[in-house]
Amino acid sequence: TAARRALIAGNWKMNLDHLQSIALVQKLAWTLKDRNFQSDTVEVAVFPPFTDLRSVQTLIAADKLDFSLGGQDLSAHDSGAHTGDISGSFLKALACDYVLVGHSERRANHSETDQVCLAKVQAALRHSLTPVLCVGETAEDLETVGQSAVPVAQLTAVLEGISAEDEIVVAYEPVWAIGSGTPATAEQAQEVCGVLRDTIRTLHGDEQADRTRILYGGSVKSSNIAGFMRGADVDGALVGGASLDSEEFAAIAQFE
Ligand code: G3P
Repeated sequence: TAARRALIAGNWKMNLDHLQSIALVQKLAWTLKDRNFQSDTVEVAVFPPFTDLRSVQTLIAADKLDFSLGGQDLSAHDSGAHTGDISGSFLKALACDYVLVGHSERRANHSETDQVCLAKVQAALRHSLTPVLCVGETAEDLETVGQSAVPVAQLTAVLEGISAEDEIVVAYEPVWAIGSGTPATAEQAQEVCGVLRDTIRTLHGDEQADRTRILYGGSVKSSNIAGFMRGADVDGALVGGASLDSEEFAAIAQFE
């Protein structure tokens, strides 16, 4: 993990309007400052709903806050007749560095296939955004094909359409662990993250495999983050529920 800067990312999902998002970012900034948080080894990123991005961006810029910003989704297209969709170029214009792609809730609720996810990853890269590709198995997959087969297939489908030079982040989120209060064990998370890194190594070589950050997500809390971070192939966390509480999220960013 040493060479890779840890990434603690908060996926707010469809929570908080723009006023509430300003309040949370302010509280989070105060809490981290209070705890004397050191950002040189840990990057903190937030993924607010689209309607909050401008407010959060403005606050980050005005107060010179050390938070990275990302969108929760983007269109596979760059512009045009796609009512309700958001272009990667709009996210880039709002100083976003990241965008989530293929979160299990998008795969399940919006029928996003691996092909759709690849097209969105390519769109993100066209706009110089780092896609955070979410992969993970359902409880049923876990029983029928085991833990890593589905995440490996989901990652492979995307790697086959991008190059070894591209920068992506991978988030391993077992669907059964998301919002369930039942996280994977630290050993399970490390094992699958290790297999995902091996997949990158096999398809694209050492350089991308060693540089790509792989996160664990699914019921991460301040009480379990330290165990996950001990995994050699776990470079951070994608946090849902616990990212809405500034004290809890700040504690996670400090792995304590
Ligand atoms: O993207 C993060 C998420 O799916 C995990 O959610 O609430 O289990 O931390 P949660």
